[in-house]
Amino acid sequence: MKLLVVGGGGREHAIIKKLRENKSVEVIYALPGNGGIASDAVCVPVKATDIEGIADFAVENKIDYAVVAPDDPLVMGAVDLLEEKGIPCFGPNKAAAVIEGSKAFAKDLMKKYGIPTARYETFSALGEALAYAETCPLPTVVKADGLALGKGVIIAKTREEAKEALRSMMEDKKFGKSGEKVVIEEFLTGPEVSVLSFTDGETVVPMVSSMDHKRALDGDEGLNTGGMGTVAPNPYYTEEVAKRCMEEIFLPTIRAMKAEGRTFKGCLYFGLMITADGPKVIEYNCRFGDPETQVVLPLLESDLLTVMQAVTAGKLSETEVRFSGKSACCLIMASDGYPLSYKKGFELEIPADIADNVYIAGAALTDGKLLTSGGRVLGAVAVRDSLREAVDASYEMAGRIHFANAYYRKDIGARALKALEE
Ligand code: AMP
Ligand code: GLY
Repeated sequence: MKLLVVGGGGREHAIIKKLRENKSVEVIYALPGNGGIASDAVCVPVKATDIEGIADFAVENKIDYAVVAPDDPLVMGAVDLLEEKGIPCFGPNKAAAVIEGSKAFAKDLMKKYGIPTARYETFSALGEALAYAETCPLPTVVKADGLALGKGVIIAKTREEAKEALRSMMEDKKFGKSGEKVVIEEFLTGPEVSVLSFTDGETVVPMVSSMDHKRALDGDEGLNTGGMGTVAPNPYYTEEVAKRCMEEIFLPTIRAMKAEGRTFKGCLYFGLMITADGPKVIEYNCRFGDPETQVVLPLLESDLLTVMQAVTAGKLSETEVRFSGKSACCLIMASDGYPLSYKKGFELEIPADIADNVYIAGAALTDGKLLTSGGRVLGAVAVRDSLREAVDASYEMAGRIHFANAYYRKDIGARALKALEE
């Protein structure tokens, strides 16, 4: 089979490595991929947002199956376009991807179907939003409606901060059209859990749970990033919590999307907070999370392509999705200065014996050398019998990987390990 994977980060590297395990796969094209992905796939310089270019490539190269991984092409309708051209795909269509594409849509859906989430108000006029910010409880959370590279969420401790966030989104258009509408919501507290799931619109199968570390600095300080590391499973996702999530969140969401005429097929990501009142939805993503995927897929024992094709065919209920009982840690090595400004173009040295467990996020091949090209450069991924061993092993790997200007957090997994001891 000839496969196509849209995207070019660590998540896509993890997806491609897993897809390659299927013996019927002859070739995987990555659009655009990256210098590290080039060891596992044929990289083609078509941008992930060039959905016409992607569809044309798929037709010309007689692609048998396509996986659209990033949010932008999904929200733009890449899956609709590929399917129109007869290419079977993994990923939601445009109508379903709106669950991530519009936070106002997601909040209204949860309200209508009684799915637990933070209380909220939606605003399209700056004046009304500012007036609301004068009286709402503090802290409060201001969110840009649309996609904003994970940066459209501001937790405001004071009214001034809330008003500044509103002005930057609605007046200064910091996130372009994404900030024309905003959601202001109740601040919740509790441990966060990420649950990715496979769903064909009828059946939903949660994958192993995980924990992201979104802030740049140790102790969850500093700026929000795309994610500085992940562990799986997440110790806060107990069997009891899992049961409640299935009954109160996962199934109701799948049914709600179907009832709205927006049947969701693909990977639906539930960003959850385990509050004193039970699990609540912080966000939905219409895709695999990054860097959650880098710890979840290595624990998948079933064949990924088979599961994905079952999703596309609407036959997920007949397909086994099995995870190993092991633990995984992904430690992100970034360019120092990320998520603000950083230098790039430095050569990567990765020992051959661990290269297979390194998922490249931001590196380019130049004259045969792998050079850093992004903020998040790579994930060092270890799978072990216990979380302690997995965390230690990924730090050991990081100690053996070198590039100038490398930065990584020193406490990935620390909170999860502490929770396991309690
Ligand atoms: P998001 O970009 O939607 O993933 O949000 C980024 C982070 O903001 C989340 O991972 C949470 O830590 C935090 N956050 C979002 N919404 C809330 C909320 N209602 N209460 C508390 N924290 C929140
Ligand atoms: N790690 C969170 C995300 O992929 O949005």
